Amino acid sequence: MTVHFIGAGPGAADLITLRGRDLIAACPVCLYAGSLVPPALLQHCPPGARIVNTAPLSLDQIIQEMADAHAAGHDVARLHSGDLSVWSAMGEQLRRLRLLGIPFQVTPGVPSFAAAAAALEAELTLPGVAQSVVLTRTPGRASTMPERETLAAFGATGATLAVHLSIHALDRVVADLAPHYGPDCAVAVVWRASWPDQRIIRSTLSRVQGDAQGIDRTALILVGPALAAEGFDDSRLYAADYDRRYRPVGADPRFPE
Ligand SMILES: C[S@@+](CC[C@H](N)C(=O)[O-])C[C@H]1O[C@@H](n2cnc3c(N)ncnc32)[C@H](O)[C@@H]1O
Repeated sequence: MTVHFIGAGPGAADLITLRGRDLIAACPVCLYAGSLVPPALLQHCPPGARIVNTAPLSLDQIIQEMADAHAAGHDVARLHSGDLSVWSAMGEQLRRLRLLGIPFQVTPGVPSFAAAAAALEAELTLPGVAQSVVLTRTPGRASTMPERETLAAFGATGATLAVHLSIHALDRVVADLAPHYGPDCAVAVVWRASWPDQRIIRSTLSRVQGDAQGIDRTALILVGPALAAEGFDDSRLYAADYDRRYRPVGADPRFPE
């Protein structure tokens, strides 16, 4: 018996890995985080599966569901939105399962920042413009931020920021970042990336509060010059004169064939 933690993707029902889909189909128990996991994924559950929305449950109740399945010898598909590596609350579940000796496995999913970038048709790391992406958030009712993880500190790097869980605090995001990126820096708000009703707002730090009025909850705020850059360098990787292992160039290539 295994509890399979599965990244359910950002919203579109076909943005789940084949492995994730097959695991859902093979597990007689499915626990899903109902606030964000696309309901269409539950259609992959086998007939007669026990399907539980964990949104109203406490951590103790969720672990009890897993322990009951363990006692019955039933595999569990545990679905969280996007990927499991960020803001999934998987860490605390794994810690409990380790203590209880209940086996688990983790299957990654498409994170929402990647779905938002795809919606924007944007590469977030453009040569000479930005080579880092910071996945971050602002503090929430249930979560404080470690002291040094401030938007201002990340903004000082000029990297592309993907600010999660923060659309309600857009005024604060703008106030913290404008001194570093300038008022004309590009901002995109992507609401429900990859869902059928997805919305995209392209704006600047000085305008975004007006442009994104009425947007709430499931939205990502992307900030940084890479979002609007046109005059960036081509990457060296595909340059005709760039000698590399897979495309040796010149009379004395570094990696001869
Ligand atoms: C609890 S976190 C889950 C993050 C998720 N594990 C991931 O990989 O993206 C929820 C936040 O992720 C972002 N989010 C999740 N799905 C999204 C989507 N389809 N479109 C835009 N933002 C999304 C929003 O900022 C939302 O407040």
